[in-house]
Amino acid sequence: MTEGLKEGLKGSRLAARDLTLAYEDRTVVDGLDLAVPDGEVTIVIGPNACGKSTLLRALGRLLKPARGTVLLDGEDLARIPTRAIAQSLGLLPQTPVAPEAITVADLVARGRQPHQRWWQQWSEADERAVADAMARTDTTALAERSVDELSGGQRQRVWIAMALAQETDLLLLDEPTTYLDISHQVEVLDLVRRLNRERGRTVVAVLHDLNQAARYADHLVAMKAGRIVAQGRPADIVTADLVREVFGLHAVVVPDPVTAGPLVIPGKPWEGEERAYVPEPGAAERA
Ligand SMILES: Nc1ncnc2c1ncn2[C@@H]1O[C@H](COP(=O)(O)OP(=O)(O)OP(=O)(O)O)[C@@H](O)[C@H]1O
Ligand SMILES: [Mg+2]
Repeated sequence: MTEGLKEGLKGSRLAARDLTLAYEDRTVVDGLDLAVPDGEVTIVIGPNACGKSTLLRALGRLLKPARGTVLLDGEDLARIPTRAIAQSLGLLPQTPVAPEAITVADLVARGRQPHQRWWQQWSEADERAVADAMARTDTTALAERSVDELSGGQRQRVWIAMALAQETDLLLLDEPTTYLDISHQVEVLDLVRRLNRERGRTVVAVLHDLNQAARYADHLVAMKAGRIVAQGRPADIVTADLVREVFGLHAVVVPDPVTAGPLVIPGKPWEGEERAYVPEPGAAERA
């Protein structure tokens, strides 16, 4: 690596350089550069099919770049042994698949595999990590249940527990709040923030809710059609123009009454269909 490149990656254990990702001959992510800031929460937003999951999979080495590289600690991810990657980097995919009839406790325990040795299959540290991950995700009571028979939200929390049990410095989460009711969404996002603030974890998460993204991100990355359109502090980049550019949506951005950060409110609903909402003459009097 050149000195200049090294300098540019200071503060980023995980980075993508000129990353092009494709499925067969269809390019999905094109020449993307990204330096994930260490010790921060990075949130990726963007419309469906813009390449967020594809990017995350490449950062977790589940997908091989068509061109360019992903660097972990300055080294090409492709050249690092799988076990070493799994000790540094955990990835929760958008739609993970559990082995049939596995129990919750067994699935969460699989998060410990990268830490196990042939001479010691299970240690006290493993036990602690699993118990801690389950307590933090409110899944302890589900331990003996079969993963197949859980609700969508329960299952999502179990997957998050498995990712946490891996105890990696870097955590990649693809839509971790999918299926969760609003209080569990907030709980998971608070948990992510706590892991970051208290344990120094670096997190990259994909979220669809712009307002949650703006609240929880230190670093926000807005993607469109396989490219990064804007990145930075939410307060610096979330504007009505950005929302229009990325999502093609009219919106107003006002100060969040709780955090004072940016709050996106979609504007002009049902434009062109107002007639459907005009009350009948005299309706107010009759009500
Ligand atoms: N395994 C695959 N084989 C072929 N094409 C794929 C595959 N996975 C994704 N794609 C395509 O790549 C593009 C980007 O998909 P990706 O899953 O990265 O989008 P996304 O931004 O995560 O979208 P969403 O918000 O819907 O999850 C889409 O056009 C999708 O159809
Ligand atoms: Mg996705």
